[in-house]
Amino acid sequence: MSTYSAAAIAPPNIAFIKYWGNRDEVLRLPVNGSLSMNLDGLWARTRVTFVPGLAADTLTLNAQPQRGASLERVRAFLDLVRQMSGLRWAAAVQSENNFPAGAGIASSAAAFAALALAATAAAGLEMDRAALSRLARRGSGSAARSVPDGFVEWEVGQDDRTSYAFSIAPPEHWELLDCVTVISRAHKPVGSSAGHRLAASSPLQAARVDDAPQRIARCRQAILERDFAALAEVVEQDSNLMHAVMMTSSPPLFYWLPATLRVMEAVRRWRREGLPVCYTIDAGPNVHVLCLPEAQEEAQRRLAALEGVQQVIVARPGHGARLLEEENA
Ligand code: PMV
Repeated sequence: MSTYSAAAIAPPNIAFIKYWGNRDEVLRLPVNGSLSMNLDGLWARTRVTFVPGLAADTLTLNAQPQRGASLERVRAFLDLVRQMSGLRWAAAVQSENNFPAGAGIASSAAAFAALALAATAAAGLEMDRAALSRLARRGSGSAARSVPDGFVEWEVGQDDRTSYAFSIAPPEHWELLDCVTVISRAHKPVGSSAGHRLAASSPLQAARVDDAPQRIARCRQAILERDFAALAEVVEQDSNLMHAVMMTSSPPLFYWLPATLRVMEAVRRWRREGLPVCYTIDAGPNVHVLCLPEAQEEAQRRLAALEGVQQVIVARPGHGARLLEEENA
């Protein structure tokens, strides 16, 4: 039975240029390309075991059996792996995260990258990184970016085959830190799958999408040249653009809380005063404050002192998804 079992680990990632909106919902083909950094030390760890005679797929998340929407999403994903491999058995999936839920760290990216690798290995499929990224994309778009190492670009592509993520620089390339500034742990009222569907209803979305290739080029260059000032400018602009689209869609999505704005304002002020920091915000109120190592201690201390900040979690650039060989032996 061990031949049909494998375990994998994958990190969450933070997008510097955001993915918001699909042009094909089933294939999760994005309307624009995106760019991100994997977060080291944070992970989803998943074991998949295909079991002859098991009546239906099962899922446990941090040892809690799951039902409903999250189980259905995993089942639909396993169906893709069954189609690719010809295997017909149901699978038992056990997954754990080492980062707190609701901290504004995208758990679905880590979860589907780890699931894609563990499920294909368990089914005996040999996949290259591009194929694995494409498959992970079908579970959650941003999961495509948790497959390759370090700093990662997800190509918008023409179709299923051409839309996948690849590494533009390894994690050692630049020691950029993400100080995840937790403001609320409440479950977000509108998740990203529903959010992607609303994006096109904003009149600002077309402008955001049209300009995305230019922002990706600026961001890629800033990373390759380790130019923090250039990175800060494009990362904050891109985050503001996505939130402008969210706030102007029908119905509108407002993810920020008063403390979110307080952090944004403070980060901009600190940068003007010479501290290398900038912010980016996903679909929630928590703020990812990027900084250079020399600013970490000061940034962490100042962030923790702001009203409404509950916790600051620091992560450096990390590797992508990998199999846990020792557990697969
Ligand atoms: O992969 P999804 O469907 O959870 O979408 C991610 C959306 C954002 O986190 C807001 C942006 C991004 O590019 O990660």
